[in-house]
Amino acid sequence: MSRKYLIAGNWKMNKTATETVDLIKEINSTVGSQTNVQVCVCPPFTSLAKASELVDQSEVLLGAQNMCAQPSGAYTGEISAEMLRDLYVSFVILGHSERRQFYGETNESVNKKVLAAVENNLKPIYCIGETLEEREAGQTLDIVRSQVREGLENFPANAIDSLVVAYEPVWAIGTGKTATDEMAQEVHADIRKVLVEMFGDSAASTVRILYGGSMKPENAAGLLSQPDVDGGLIGGASLTSRAFSGIVEAALAG
Ligand code: PGA
Repeated sequence: MSRKYLIAGNWKMNKTATETVDLIKEINSTVGSQTNVQVCVCPPFTSLAKASELVDQSEVLLGAQNMCAQPSGAYTGEISAEMLRDLYVSFVILGHSERRQFYGETNESVNKKVLAAVENNLKPIYCIGETLEEREAGQTLDIVRSQVREGLENFPANAIDSLVVAYEPVWAIGTGKTATDEMAQEVHADIRKVLVEMFGDSAASTVRILYGGSMKPENAAGLLSQPDVDGGLIGGASLTSRAFSGIVEAALAG
């Protein structure tokens, strides 16, 4: 098993294009020249063009935070896979819990986006995770399993190495509450089991499963030491180069 860690920064609705320049320059200079850990920044759409020029000067990769499942046409306010590819975007976060919660996205609608992304050579970072109520009701694994099965239905087996799954317990996002290392590993191992059932052993062993939810330099090493935790999807701590680079350093040391 040789999965390279991926540390991805989900900037959410933060940073203007002007502010983006400073942050990416700093990330380029701290962790942008190493290749042992894959580093990706996912700024808002309005920053992608600027970001694209800047990450071109380093090993840092670019991601988007959402995408339309349709290729083009009358979809006001939407952004297509081709538009992202044109800006050298490599990854796209899909099905984030905030999109599920505030914009009505479902396993079924996100599945269409995942398939459109991979068809266009974008690597999906497919987000899943249970709410606090679901965890307290003992439903975590059931919820996560159906998110994996439904959201990844018909995913082409020959592109499996482009797939990234992000396990983000909703109760841990932006709350300062993190899953313990053991809690994360339990769910990650279960996700991989479902991937084995869907795609077979060797395919499932290539999929990177990121943990997300209040990851920061202080807790990153423990989470990343778990056998099925292959990186992190970082929200709040991706907004300063100090915190974000600290997490990349933890991955480099792991
Ligand atoms: P957080 O967000 O690190 O601020 O908890 C993670 C995410 O939502 O991707």
